[in-house]
Amino acid sequence: MNSIPQQIQDLRQLINEHNYYYYVLDNPRISDRDYDQLMRKLESLEQRYPEWVTLDSPTQRVGAAPLSEFAEVIHKIPMLSLANAFTDQEVADFEQRIRERLKIQSIEYVAEPKLDGLAVNLQYEQGKLVKAATRGDGQRGEEVTNNVRTIASIPLRLRGATIDVEVRGEIFISKTGFLQLNQQQLANGQRLFANPRNAAAGSLRQLDAQATASRPLSFLAYSVGAIQGHLLPECHDQLLQQLKDWGFPVSHLCQTVQGIIGCLAYYRQLLGQRDQLPFEIDGVVYKVNRLAYQQQLASVSRAPRWAIAHKLPSQEASTQILAIEVQVGRTGVLTPVARLAPVSVGGVTITNATLHNQDEINRKDLRVGDTVIVRRAGEVIPEVVEVLLDKRPVGTVAYSIPKQCPVCGAEVTRVAEEASARCTGGLSCAAQRKQSLQHFASRRALDIQGLGEKLIEQVVDKSLIKTLADIYQLTTAQWASLERMGEKSARNLQRALEKSKTTSLARFLYGLGIRDVGEVTAQVLAEHFGQLSSLMEADEATLQQIPDIGPVVAQQVVTFFRQAHNVAVIQQLQAHGVNWPETRIKVAVPLVPEEEKKGETVLSLQPLTGQTFVLTGTLSSLTREAAKVRLQALGAKVTGSLSKKTDYLVVGDNPGSKLEKAQDLGISLLDEQGLLALLESLERDFSL
Ligand code: IVH
Repeated sequence: MNSIPQQIQDLRQLINEHNYYYYVLDNPRISDRDYDQLMRKLESLEQRYPEWVTLDSPTQRVGAAPLSEFAEVIHKIPMLSLANAFTDQEVADFEQRIRERLKIQSIEYVAEPKLDGLAVNLQYEQGKLVKAATRGDGQRGEEVTNNVRTIASIPLRLRGATIDVEVRGEIFISKTGFLQLNQQQLANGQRLFANPRNAAAGSLRQLDAQATASRPLSFLAYSVGAIQGHLLPECHDQLLQQLKDWGFPVSHLCQTVQGIIGCLAYYRQLLGQRDQLPFEIDGVVYKVNRLAYQQQLASVSRAPRWAIAHKLPSQEASTQILAIEVQVGRTGVLTPVARLAPVSVGGVTITNATLHNQDEINRKDLRVGDTVIVRRAGEVIPEVVEVLLDKRPVGTVAYSIPKQCPVCGAEVTRVAEEASARCTGGLSCAAQRKQSLQHFASRRALDIQGLGEKLIEQVVDKSLIKTLADIYQLTTAQWASLERMGEKSARNLQRALEKSKTTSLARFLYGLGIRDVGEVTAQVLAEHFGQLSSLMEADEATLQQIPDIGPVVAQQVVTFFRQAHNVAVIQQLQAHGVNWPETRIKVAVPLVPEEEKKGETVLSLQPLTGQTFVLTGTLSSLTREAAKVRLQALGAKVTGSLSKKTDYLVVGDNPGSKLEKAQDLGISLLDEQGLLALLESLERDFSL
């Protein structure tokens, strides 16, 4: 067995090598799990032998105490900026100037993406990262060593070299990292970042490096600053290779090209790929490849003569807000959307932009009539970055999300701890019904091929469908009568509907669209309970005992299954033949009809068992006594007075004081129509 320090050193080297395969070569050699195991092994050794812990150990990225301010760093070699070219002609002029100075006709360049983040200088001494600084004004920057150390792709020590060198490159945030970060900000009711650049800068410049550690920051190296004890290669492309060998990620998009023709061809190619790139770029940089030429050309007014940034068309443009409308999502969340005067941004015409929520509207003080800067990037929904206040017309008014749902008219509420406003209409709201249906039919839920947005719109708008289960009830002729449908597509759809009936419990649960129950949670619940009925009976305490299920999810699940209309829809779906293999079959109650036994669908014959109802007010189409008898036949307990144990209050005309009391107790209310729908559907499905 090797000595402890040797074991520790070997482990660190192994981890660093795997970092190199992962971050530099983009070709990991071990699974994340095995990597984590190596890290844990190192951590436990270092815990037992703290005397061997060094700052360059991969375990020591986070942990520095928060600062009260950033120290100033004077760059040994200034960090230059780049001159811009906006047209092909300006690039041609750049090349012409170089030819004249060097008196050479053909020049080789390296073309690189111009990353939209912030430049940093990383100082390594004897191969170890000792200091990191932002560019600042080019002469002086801020020391951000602790923050930079938390970025996993930046090596804490050079691979195979113990020299003194400054490495320069860009810290940025990927498009997905940016989206995730903003979603998190939105959920926490915090200010959104206008673009990935701001997000990267804001994330790096945190006085507490712990905060930086949680942000998805990336790094790509593109040059060196001061260097000692090592000769630079002849060309920039070789320098990039050297940076990779030292363990720095370098963009795979860097390319050696010949003359302006090569530069412009590269530009067109990258412009075409722009939306597919994982990070945002705002241009392309052309750099004279030969370092001796770079030296000869030198710099003028803080920008080198040997390089230029060829800007890509802007992702931002200014336009006017014509109106603000709200969209209603599946769970009733209202999202305000700005309708814009059409404007072309990066070759795409934009007419809408998301405004996220009321807080964001207030923060930006957005009003109808305002001129705003909008921004689009890739496939992402365009956003309003800022309002141009000096262009605000007179007479504008602050905007508030409506108090009533624009689709169904139900009350809109705002839960205290949430940033979003919600329609309380539930499935009686057509917008929510459409979205729920779309979700139910989606690929990862019941996967009903051919049942898309347009069809769903039609069947809901035409009132052909009231609940999820109704999709299994429409006839081929009914489907065929819809727009853009014919006999053949209707028959195909019926086949897809039939096929969707055989599913899994996890898909079914996910498809129900229970709030906070995504695919993973649905899977966890399905595996734990094995069958739907046990899950439906579970209380919050039971649910919370399951690993990965917290109090919020537990509450949502219980609330969902407590609502009679949800239970009714589930029963209806099962009655239509929606089924899945049960892992643990509950003993069937006696008298299960023969066909149901064959289909393995186990239905309790008294679906309202365990539910307590109270009736109040006058019912118009049946007497309270009749309602009571029918509810009892379905297993419900019907009592005369309200208590915490009451599940539903059925409210007729002139309800009196019970209604108020039920509202205080948070008891679910059912009007006469709701009661009849519940009775009829359950009686039909249970052949009473
Ligand atoms: S080279 C002397 N290469 O652009 C050359 N810069 O306007 C200086 N940038 O501050 C930098 N991608 O933040 C270079 N591939 C790239 C770049 C790049 C982005 C940024 C960098 C710099 C700014 C200069």
